[in-house]
Amino acid sequence: MARLPFFDLDAVPGTLGDTLRARPPLNLYKVLPHAPEVAEGFLALGGAILRKSSLSPALRELAILRVGALCDASYEIHQHRRVARSAGVPDEKIEAALADPASPLFDARERAVLAFTDAVVRQVKAPEPLYATLAAHCSAQEQMELVVTIGFYMLVSRLLENLELEVEDEDAAAAIAAHVAQAPTPAPVPADPVRQLFAPALGRARPAGRMAGRRVLVVGGGQRPTVDEQPPVGNGRAMTLLFAREGAAVACADMDLASAEESAARARREGGRVHALQADVSRPEEITRMVREAVQVLGGLDGLVLNVGIGNTSRFGTETAQAWDAVMDVNLRAHMLCAQAAAEVMEEGGSMVFVSSTASLSPLTGIPAYECSKAALAALGRAAAYATHGRGLRANVIAPGLIDTPLGRDASRNRPARAARPLPFGRQGTGWEVAHATLFLLSSEASYVNGQVLVADGGLSVSVVRQPAA
Ligand SMILES: NC(=O)c1ccc[n+]([C@@H]2O[C@H](COP(=O)([O-])OP(=O)(O)OC[C@H]3O[C@@H](n4cnc5c(N)ncnc54)[C@H](O)[C@@H]3O)[C@@H](O)[C@H]2O)c1
Repeated sequence: MARLPFFDLDAVPGTLGDTLRARPPLNLYKVLPHAPEVAEGFLALGGAILRKSSLSPALRELAILRVGALCDASYEIHQHRRVARSAGVPDEKIEAALADPASPLFDARERAVLAFTDAVVRQVKAPEPLYATLAAHCSAQEQMELVVTIGFYMLVSRLLENLELEVEDEDAAAAIAAHVAQAPTPAPVPADPVRQLFAPALGRARPAGRMAGRRVLVVGGGQRPTVDEQPPVGNGRAMTLLFAREGAAVACADMDLASAEESAARARREGGRVHALQADVSRPEEITRMVREAVQVLGGLDGLVLNVGIGNTSRFGTETAQAWDAVMDVNLRAHMLCAQAAAEVMEEGGSMVFVSSTASLSPLTGIPAYECSKAALAALGRAAAYATHGRGLRANVIAPGLIDTPLGRDASRNRPARAARPLPFGRQGTGWEVAHATLFLLSSEASYVNGQVLVADGGLSVSVVRQPAA
């Protein structure tokens, strides 16, 4: 029982009420309206520290955990263990930050930050040699923001302990971690309802913790290089970012490690927990290693998305055995072998999604190998669902239509008629729209959807199209 009564947040008036209702349901927020004049400034500073500071999320969380340990603030430690995990800090480092800040697990920069934090909390002013070591590892902005972070969390721990606020339940804690993991508050997106363009389609949806606690492997989580100066987001990169924003830990695998690392780095800058892995899934032996590594870095597996897919240039009449097999090896055999290896280690309640295409329903690409490989995924999804439902797993297929991704642009350059025809809502889809549909199938929201193909094409395959806007 807290020492101050909780406010009903729905009844808090004015902008403070709006601000509090947009946040996760922290007990701290329920007492803040007792100090309405300072509450908004307090929230703004806390938000800036978590989402705008130049300190990396992992370094910031180590310092906050250390403050929590020194202040013996169990509430703060509990919440920030979770936030630190979603910022990619391994459990051993989290425990070391609490108990042994000089641990060899830390690199020199982390040790400097932790030693400085200790001195500020215990002695108020850090002695000169400690400051000099910090300054050697951190920019002036980082030094300044570190002191502000330490001071702010000393204040928070004193508030929490003195008001005897209790730790929230698991659902609230997951919502908090997802809230911290979200990108800097995006500017409002002007919706275009006639074109069905809303914030999710542009990658600007407010995260809601829909994948909190999930561990997901995205195969093909990078995106192909392109001649476009400002390339659109690819399906796999959008999935990696979206799942991380929604609270999942993600292993992002790609044959192009640099591209997987770019997806992971973008997610981490937003506070997500993403690890990049290299694997060419046309090689069966690399599939076994990739799944093993994903389980290692994630600590288990409850989600798999097979997003890899390639085409070739062979038409009907010019196909060769070698070119046909090359497409099948990536688009179909790899999906089968990955699903099999992942299903073996996946936890009950897990889910798999195979990325097909509406090319599976129509001959218009003119690339039979691509169309046949994508069509076969519907059967593979059913086979996987049938084989694994007894263990509490699900398997589904998503068939995107015409999507404006790097692959989509390459396809349109090769075949200009592709995107010049009437399209659903007068536009191509976005990688974010594919990612959102996949998120649904992967999450427990789709618990009663199994062995199905979800066509995400705006209505293209049923001829619901309109002329492109002039
Ligand atoms: N863009 C569209 O219009 C569209 C439409 C329907 C379906 N799809 C499907 O969506 C998926 C992703 O498409 P995208 O547009 O984001 O394409 P993309 O080419 O940008 O992304 C695919 C990723 O898979 C990786 N990859 C390819 N072969 C691999 C292999 N052997 N091992 C490991 N990684 C490999 C690539 O390096 C790339 O990063 C594909 O399966 C594609 O067929 C795309």
